[in-house]
Amino acid sequence: MKLSIIGAGNVGSSCAAIVTQMNSIDEIVLLDVKPGFAEAKAQDISELGVLLGSKTVVTGVTDKYECTKDSDVVVITSGIPRKDGMSRDDLLKTNAKIVKTVVKSVMKHSDPIIIVASNPVNSMTFIAQKFSKLGAFKVFGLAGLLDGTRFRREVANQLNCLVTEVEGTVIGEHGDTMVPILYPPKTMKEDVRSLTTAKTRSTGADLTRALGTSAYFGPGAALARMIQSIVKDENKVYSVCTYLEGEFGLSDVCLSVPCELGRDGINRIVEIKLSHEELRLLRKSSEKVSIQMKDALELLR
Ligand code: LAC
Repeated sequence: MKLSIIGAGNVGSSCAAIVTQMNSIDEIVLLDVKPGFAEAKAQDISELGVLLGSKTVVTGVTDKYECTKDSDVVVITSGIPRKDGMSRDDLLKTNAKIVKTVVKSVMKHSDPIIIVASNPVNSMTFIAQKFSKLGAFKVFGLAGLLDGTRFRREVANQLNCLVTEVEGTVIGEHGDTMVPILYPPKTMKEDVRSLTTAKTRSTGADLTRALGTSAYFGPGAALARMIQSIVKDENKVYSVCTYLEGEFGLSDVCLSVPCELGRDGINRIVEIKLSHEELRLLRKSSEKVSIQMKDALELLR
């Protein structure tokens, strides 16, 4: 199994390091446009791999897409990251062009499953689907799994219990309109629910403010879990960003929803039962993302 990661910045290199530790893939190629950067990251990660007994071979290349040839999975993290005070939407113009170019270069050498991490991830997933022509089940984006983890942590903090005791997920936009879902039987008082929702939505910005750049260990690990479910054909259900065609009553929009991930990518979208309120919020999220997707396409004309 071969994994290529385009963009060796914080998220790309964290993902590479975590996948290397998991020891579940033969080869990782890290690619970056900055001369010598991916090579250095690959060397650092290779040393980590040797120390931890991993068999994964990690190499780094500067913009040489031919080295990604025959990748089974490609992760795209390329683009400018968020700085303090920027929303994910502020990245749209720059990253739409970058993601389009990256996808076209990737497709010259592989017929892969593509996982998009570049922000704003809902629209970037759409761009990647459009320009790869691989179809929605082979091209999907990060987000719900990461946001769901943040939500479960917040709930555990508020209810003073272990995060492993909290079952929940996040669907919709990776942004201000994301919709946290708590699975029964735990119920939350309304004030706790609003607080955990607000905190989950603001975690990305809070971390960006504190770190000076966007988070990377959590995003890297979320990507690694998705990759693991694909390469090991685990068929785990994670919330990932994909194109909806009628699911949850929504169409022509890329949103995070629970999906079963296996060797071929998304096996199926799992239509969990939503309350009226959750559906209303998901529709709101869909309206926002639809506009952003149209804007992204417009920018690429
Ligand atoms: C975050 C970035 C990955 O939410 O969007 O941390």
